[in-house]
Amino acid sequence: MRRGIFRMDRAEAEALIARAPVVHVASTTAEGEPLLRTVHGALVRGAIAFHGAPAGEKTEIVGRPAVVSCEEIVASIPSYFTDPERACPATTLYRSAQARGVIERVDDPERKAEVLEALMRKYQPEGGYAPLDAASPLYRKAIAGILVLAVPLERIDGKAKLAQNRAPEERARLLARLWERGLPGDPAAIEALRAACPDTPVPAFLSAPAGCALACALGPRDVDAAVDLLEGAYWNQGVSRGALARAQLGSPAWVGARDGAGRLVATARAISDGSKRAWMFDVMVAPSLRGLGVGEAVVRLLLDHPAVRGALHVHLGTQDAHTFYARFGFQRRADLPPRPFVSTEMVLTRG
Ligand SMILES: CC(C)(COP(=O)(O)OP(=O)(O)OC[C@H]1O[C@@H](n2cnc3c(N)ncnc32)[C@H](O)[C@@H]1OP(=O)(O)O)[C@@H](O)C(=O)NCCC(=O)NCCS
Repeated sequence: MRRGIFRMDRAEAEALIARAPVVHVASTTAEGEPLLRTVHGALVRGAIAFHGAPAGEKTEIVGRPAVVSCEEIVASIPSYFTDPERACPATTLYRSAQARGVIERVDDPERKAEVLEALMRKYQPEGGYAPLDAASPLYRKAIAGILVLAVPLERIDGKAKLAQNRAPEERARLLARLWERGLPGDPAAIEALRAACPDTPVPAFLSAPAGCALACALGPRDVDAAVDLLEGAYWNQGVSRGALARAQLGSPAWVGARDGAGRLVATARAISDGSKRAWMFDVMVAPSLRGLGVGEAVVRLLLDHPAVRGALHVHLGTQDAHTFYARFGFQRRADLPPRPFVSTEMVLTRG
């Protein structure tokens, strides 16, 4: 470990390169001039592969050693989080990977098609094209005419700087500062830090009842579990699993709770303009954990979420949980007529 930088294992480092929107490839030309290119790359058979024009600069680097790198910024940490005067503590939390190998030209049309198909799947996952096939008249000429290069990841180093070197109490304070700051990536950064450093004490804003742990940012790995919880709800009748998944992933505030085994047992989300109005949706606690305060904790966390906390009016619709929401200050909208057996709108007005 150097200055709080931790090494990732090979699988994690490869996964980072595989999901990177772009990778940087550094090499030298035949004249020994340094050359750096940013490319769209896909991980294929243990190599990072990319394409170019057959007569371009990239042809010069075939057979030469190269370094491939990518990075993900997790959060910028200003100095004043730790020291009111000295600039020195300013830092950046990140993940990065760097790999070395010798650049190969891929000539076999079927392997070229495989690389191009991998690039299409990564950058155009929605489809809308005929799969790349070297024998197809649609692609034969194009595949023959394109340069495809690959750098086998002979050596790969992944690093993560996620405050692992800080004392647990100091890390908990950092989480509280990130929550208070509330930039769009901060809730996800909080969860990344907690995952990297499980010994971090739970900060007050994440304290949860019933042996559960609150999560201030859920993500793609939680989506199936959240949809399982929400699928049968009365307000989701007729809504497909795909639509429910997209709604969770598309919400700027999505929080939840996990049980002691790490299973998602509560979920809640909101959309918001951050200033005038926010709407809460899909609040659900697993039936076996209801009545223990988990729902209240999740709703409080959502109302305090950086995307929601600045909204003057927070709305929701409910058929039967009015008394539950009243404890947070929600009131039935007086300007709307009461409608039996359909959801009524409630609103919390602050400020
Ligand atoms: C509503 C829900 C999120 C509350 O979660 P929870 O973890 O059970 O809530 P808490 O333990 O924090 O609070 C429980 C309190 O809320 C009340 N409550 C829960 N559901 C209620 C409902 N549908 N109507 C009225 N009160 C309700 C309980 O009576 C209890 O009151 P008490 O503390 O005075 O005994 C949960 O019951 C749930 O998932 N229900 C099904 C989905 C749902 O209705 N979601 C809300 C739709 S808008």
